[in-house]
Amino acid sequence: MRIAVAGKGGAGKTTIAATTARLFARRGFAVHAIDDDPNPNLSAALGVAPEQAAALRRAPREEIMEEVADASGHATLRLKRPFSEVLATYGVRGPDGVDVLTMTGLLGAGKG
Ligand SMILES: Nc1ncnc2c1ncn2[C@@H]1O[C@H](COP(=O)(O)OP(=O)(O)OP(=O)(O)O)[C@@H](O)[C@H]1O
Ligand SMILES: [Mg+2]
Repeated sequence: MRIAVAGKGGAGKTTIAATTARLFARRGFAVHAIDDDPNPNLSAALGVAPEQAAALRRAPREEIMEEVADASGHATLRLKRPFSEVLATYGVRGPDGVDVLTMTGLLGAGKG
């Protein structure tokens, strides 16, 4: 199951996402929490220790994903490497065993 949390600024997306992730993990599900906020703070909301959070490296989209077109020419993104490898390279394991990945961050001025 994949759950995406998006919406208005300051509405509680990160709080809900982190709490939901930990509750699913406590119930025995394997949970991968992916932060795609340009100002990433999901790891803090999950309770990842600061020294562990410092080891989190942004998973560069261009290195881990590629665009492929299906038979009708519709473009989709797919992983270039196994997800477990991406997690091991860029992620950390937080409280309750939730794996955390950061997909973006402040990439520089004028980047949108
Ligand atoms: N149910 C709630 N009741 C009261 N305060 C809340 C609740 N949920 C979140 N908050 C608080 O509201 C603030 C914004 O929450 P949060 O960071 O989760 O929002 P967000 O939608 O992820 O924001 P952003 O758009 O900046 O990423 C935080 O200070 C958080 O502690
Ligand atoms: Mg947020």
